[in-house]
Amino acid sequence: MSSNVTGAPRGLEGVVAAQTRLSHVDGKNGVLIVGGYTIEEFAGHVGFEAAAHLLWRGHLPDRAELTKLSSQMAELRELPALTLEVIRGAAAAPPIDALRMACATLSLGLADPNAITPEADLAAAMRLTACFPTVVAAHARIGRKQEPIRPRKDLPLAANFLYMIHGKEPDPSAAQALDTYWVTVMDHGMNASTFTARVIASTRSDLVSAVTGALGALKGPLHGGAPGPVLDMLLEIGSADHAEAWLRNELSQGRRIMGFGHRVYKVRDPRAEVLSRAAERLGKAQMENRQLYDLALQVEQTALRVLAEAKPGRNLRTNVEFYTALVLQALGLDPRQFVAMFACGRTAGWCAHVIEQHAEDHLIRPQSEYIGPVGLKIS
Ligand code: ACO
Repeated sequence: MSSNVTGAPRGLEGVVAAQTRLSHVDGKNGVLIVGGYTIEEFAGHVGFEAAAHLLWRGHLPDRAELTKLSSQMAELRELPALTLEVIRGAAAAPPIDALRMACATLSLGLADPNAITPEADLAAAMRLTACFPTVVAAHARIGRKQEPIRPRKDLPLAANFLYMIHGKEPDPSAAQALDTYWVTVMDHGMNASTFTARVIASTRSDLVSAVTGALGALKGPLHGGAPGPVLDMLLEIGSADHAEAWLRNELSQGRRIMGFGHRVYKVRDPRAEVLSRAAERLGKAQMENRQLYDLALQVEQTALRVLAEAKPGRNLRTNVEFYTALVLQALGLDPRQFVAMFACGRTAGWCAHVIEQHAEDHLIRPQSEYIGPVGLKIS
């Protein structure tokens, strides 16, 4: 058979699929740059709303710009009645599925849901980013047979989320840790969910459709679904002296160790470092968190040693999800919510990529290599 298809590597590994000004992942040196800043420089020093401004508008906001964006987003936190109804209908579903269903309804309140101008994209980006934490908190409360708590406008996004989920204003260190987490995971090169969003946007489809698709891609355990299993692993291991036997048994059963390995990073994921420090700070405040943090440090070292022996040359190192599990657990969240929490931060990045892709206005449409039969006849 004649074909003009050039074979791409499996899983498109190493293929450059787009140009972006948003973030750069240097997997060899373990460096992540977001909007020109290293993640260490950025996360924990710039708040979530300011970081979103950087991605959406191309620069960090001055005081007036930050006040404007923060208050615009605070006004958008309240959910439409239909969205709340969908969340109630999805009470038994995993939070990430409820978020995907709720996200799809959020195009209804937009002035022109099908417009893909920079102004329309920005309006949709603010709406989704403002509403996602309200969706996750409302779903959690409904699942516990409690009424959702209405969002407050006087708190930053992260503090307001913790207020809505726990019913009281959070400790500033908890709100700071969640803000740092969301900024840390906000954008990360051409990962699977971002690629999904860009493919959808490249067809001139709208931002809400692109983000709804991205949520579907994020959910899988090879992408955003790992931190829940990381916590299960730490709780099952229980004490450092059980770690090696537990890990070796997992590998002998052909299972993967969650929170380790990455398609791009062949050294420690720099986000793991930022979140490890955030988890340590939370651990200092509470003995129970401290014990889990100490266990995690020991399990990490054992896992790195065992993985290096079992998979020589693969360079399987700690990824972002390992310490994500500790931060989110210390904030009193249910592991079932972890991937939805990831989505609340990442949505700012997805929206920025959609804005960039709409400006690029070029259809992403690769080809496939046909390996099926030819010449078959029906009769
Ligand atoms: N535990 C055990 N073995 C592993 C792990 C792991 N965590 N990760 C990779 N391997 C092994 C594979 O089994 C494979 O071994 P083999 O060559 O003997 O068959 C080899 O390393 C290469 O694996 P690939 O799947 O080809 O590597 P890829 O780059 O596609 O995988 C991935 C990256 C999916 C993240 C993988 O490392 C993994 O499954 N990790 C565990 C899940 C996880 O932590 N996911 C979160 C990722 S971070 C994020 O997306 C936000």
